[in-house]
Amino acid sequence: MTQRPADPPAPPESPDARTGPNPGPLRAMLSQPYRRLARGGSVHVYGSADGRYVLKALAAAADIIAWHASDGHALADLPWAQALGGTAAPGDTDTEIANRIRAATLASFRLANRHLRRESGLIHLHFPAANNSLPRIDCGDRVIDPGREPLVLQHRAERVDAALTRLGATGDNAACRQVIDDIVALVRHLWTLGIAEQTLNFHNNYGYIDDRLILLDIGDLCRSRELVMAHARQDKILHKKSAAWLRHRDPDLANYLAQQAQRCLSPEAVTILWQNAAR
Ligand SMILES: Nc1ncnc2c1ncn2[C@@H]1O[C@H](COP(=O)(O)OP(=O)(O)OP(=O)(O)O)[C@@H](O)[C@H]1O
Ligand SMILES: [Mg+2]
Repeated sequence: MTQRPADPPAPPESPDARTGPNPGPLRAMLSQPYRRLARGGSVHVYGSADGRYVLKALAAAADIIAWHASDGHALADLPWAQALGGTAAPGDTDTEIANRIRAATLASFRLANRHLRRESGLIHLHFPAANNSLPRIDCGDRVIDPGREPLVLQHRAERVDAALTRLGATGDNAACRQVIDDIVALVRHLWTLGIAEQTLNFHNNYGYIDDRLILLDIGDLCRSRELVMAHARQDKILHKKSAAWLRHRDPDLANYLAQQAQRCLSPEAVTILWQNAAR
């Protein structure tokens, strides 16, 4: 009988989620206008006026439902809604599923805050508190009150697709391959920690802060060696939407990703990673 491998011991804790970094610098980072940058499936994303930071606010349940409805889907019909940590049940209403998505996203933020601050460019995970001393934030289409909602503050990254376009324009093939190496190395690092990331693609969920690649989407993390191994077995990395995107954009680079993923992210490679990590 094979034994299910135990999840790895928790790495040391990062700064406390409630207090975070020294509130002085944090207040300074938030004391500037922010403007809408993107709308994700589960968050509203705002960029700071100085171009250095990104603020994320959890989307309301009604927003999450509307987001999927705009694609013509009822939430309850999406296969992944059923898979949401096994918590969504047949017959759940869209509102119940949307609230579970919010809870799962928040749990994922906490996981990143504990284990992946550097790897995600995370500066602060904020939870509303009665003694909150942070300013209200002008976000153009709304004012965010940190006394009322959880927030994520991250360094702003250059998305992988933008970085590849920039590097591709210079004809620097080695630099483009380095992007692929960085992606594979980051996924390997997450997998070594027993963390699976379930975003649909690399090109807009990973990005660079200077020459350091980060996982900028921290809303789809799950700490489970079983899930990591399932991803390795299913060649999940190759099947991410970005692989198709990459094949369309640069077949040589797509082949290189396939080679590197087979070499570094196979079930055998993952087993060796865990054996080495346990030594
Ligand atoms: N740190 C960041 N730097 C630059 N852009 C960012 C950053 N974080 C998010 N974005 C932009 O905002 C978009 C949505 O953010 P994110 O992926 O975190 O949200 P999401 O709700 O999980 O989205 P989705 O479900 O569409 O993947 C990203 O695809 C990216 O374009
Ligand atoms: Mg995303």
